[in-house]
Amino acid sequence: MDKKFIRNFSIIAHIDHGKSTLADRLIEHTGALEKRLMKEQYLDRMDIERERGITIKAQTVRLHYKADDGNIYQLNLIDTPGHVDFTYEVSRSLAACEGALIVVDASQGVEAQTIANVYMAVDQGLELIPVINKIDLPSAEPEKVKKEIEDFIGLDASEAIPASAKDNIGTKEIMEAIVKKIPPPSGDGTKPTKALVFDSWYDPYQGVIILVRLYDGNIRVGDSIKFLATGREYEVDKIGVFNPLPIFEDELYSGEVGFIMAGVKRLKDVKIGDTITLVSNPATDLLPGFKDVKPVVFCGIYPVDTKDYDDLRDALEKLILNDSSITFEPENSVALGFGFRCGFLGLLHMEIIQERLEREYDLNLITTAPTVVYHVFKKDGEMVEVDSPVDLPEVTEIEKIEEPFISATIILPSDFVGPVIQLLQHRRGIQKNMNFLSETRVILEYDIPLAEVVMDFYDKLKSSSKGYASFDYEPAGYKESDMVKLDILINKEPVDALSIIAHRDQAYYKGKELVEKLKEVIPRQMFDVAIQAALGNKIIARSTVKAYRKNVTAKCYGGDITRKKKLLEKQKEGKRRMKRVGKVDVPQDAFLAILKIG
Ligand code: GTP
Repeated sequence: MDKKFIRNFSIIAHIDHGKSTLADRLIEHTGALEKRLMKEQYLDRMDIERERGITIKAQTVRLHYKADDGNIYQLNLIDTPGHVDFTYEVSRSLAACEGALIVVDASQGVEAQTIANVYMAVDQGLELIPVINKIDLPSAEPEKVKKEIEDFIGLDASEAIPASAKDNIGTKEIMEAIVKKIPPPSGDGTKPTKALVFDSWYDPYQGVIILVRLYDGNIRVGDSIKFLATGREYEVDKIGVFNPLPIFEDELYSGEVGFIMAGVKRLKDVKIGDTITLVSNPATDLLPGFKDVKPVVFCGIYPVDTKDYDDLRDALEKLILNDSSITFEPENSVALGFGFRCGFLGLLHMEIIQERLEREYDLNLITTAPTVVYHVFKKDGEMVEVDSPVDLPEVTEIEKIEEPFISATIILPSDFVGPVIQLLQHRRGIQKNMNFLSETRVILEYDIPLAEVVMDFYDKLKSSSKGYASFDYEPAGYKESDMVKLDILINKEPVDALSIIAHRDQAYYKGKELVEKLKEVIPRQMFDVAIQAALGNKIIARSTVKAYRKNVTAKCYGGDITRKKKLLEKQKEGKRRMKRVGKVDVPQDAFLAILKIG
């Protein structure tokens, strides 16, 4: 198709503001699928996938729209991940577009994720079309939201489109705005091929499916292609587009968006942001913006029962088939035995994977507190990346330590500003900006150490704002910090899996609170258990779990048998997550006790 009739765009929205519903309306409006079929698609997605032999993952679709000017346009809607930890993937999806719809809920207003993603879109020079969604709600305040968009996103909202994705209001106006306002794609069909890889996933029938945006040149079935960043070469087996069902084609042209299958077996062999070219007439430069993304948060994952070690490894291997951003390598802890050190793109990513391991793979796990990656500069001039407290070099060898920071955007009702600022200060946050978004809402911009955010920050933010604060972040580089290793000793023995890296200013109170917390969670045993916190050789806090005296069921003797059973059951459940450290039974809670502090 002539490039002037192509539009590539995505939808930017805060969670729940209506991105998916609006995408469905656009698909429906262009008649890509009949309403009835759409419903079926959702109901029988698995069947359709089986029948066609391809998984439909992303909402990246090609639509054909007959505009008021009488021309038929090819609209490529490009999906963006809705997850705060996937900033880089979002940036690559936006790089595939010339424009974006900014969808804002008319009753909620602009939220943190809207702002963070708009900044990214503006950086990439995208044409932005504000859409004020959910105007059907009685609580909708479209004029107020328009003002927020103008004041805080800096967009002209005079032509913002009022819409209700639910009631199909504004859909046609949105389609017309896409055609009129978003420029056609750039790129030159006669130059050596350059295609941006902006998404990929593993398909059990087809191997890896790669979503691309063609800039220069074309790609045909049978072409030998090369990934410029990795240097890998493959032959193209299939090409196609989602409509939203897959339609196979012979060729993708400059400016277009579609999928490629090229016999790639492992997801990790395809890097998001890489550039595909042709072996026969290769381009030399990568498209701008490529980054090799690396995990930023690490934790140890151990089976409670050592015999589950192989199952845990198999489960992790299966998970990375579909998510190549996870890393794992064997780790051996004195306290916990054999397990894995696992890396994730962020805290939420880590929590999702932990939950999947337990739920989908039915594993009984002990996880250790999350750690970020420190840059440790040694006196001998070497720099080592440390993602586990046990790997921290001796104090005497360390010149300085740098830790990763993030730039955070938080939007919240003004009533909660006090407690939230207090939380941010407590978390070593540095205020960059504070503004009123409206009379009742405030936007805060802070630089915070990532380590402070991985320590249970989301929950604390939620409770400090009664759930009203929205939060988004992007990486903000490394800065020097005075970090120390805090060790925990149980009956005089250091427990490696309980060590943490803390800022020196916080080490004392963290040590104190940690021993108190551990005292609460470590059950009484046959003997006294001494818990100590230490900085190097110096003990900074201690407490004792006294030996127990009574059998837990003793008080039920002669009493109700079901109650006794219940107690025993409870005890058993607790035991499932116990790890014997030396002679002491330590429950899972102890290894995450640090998260409950501060
Ligand atoms: P995530 O998928 O979680 O990122 O959310 P999303 O932004 O895709 O939002 P989604 O389309 O799932 O909509 C969130 C909720 O808002 C759903 O319950 C929708 O039914 C509802 N919703 C979407 N658009 C409208 C609208 O125009 N009016 C009303 N009243 N509700 C809407």
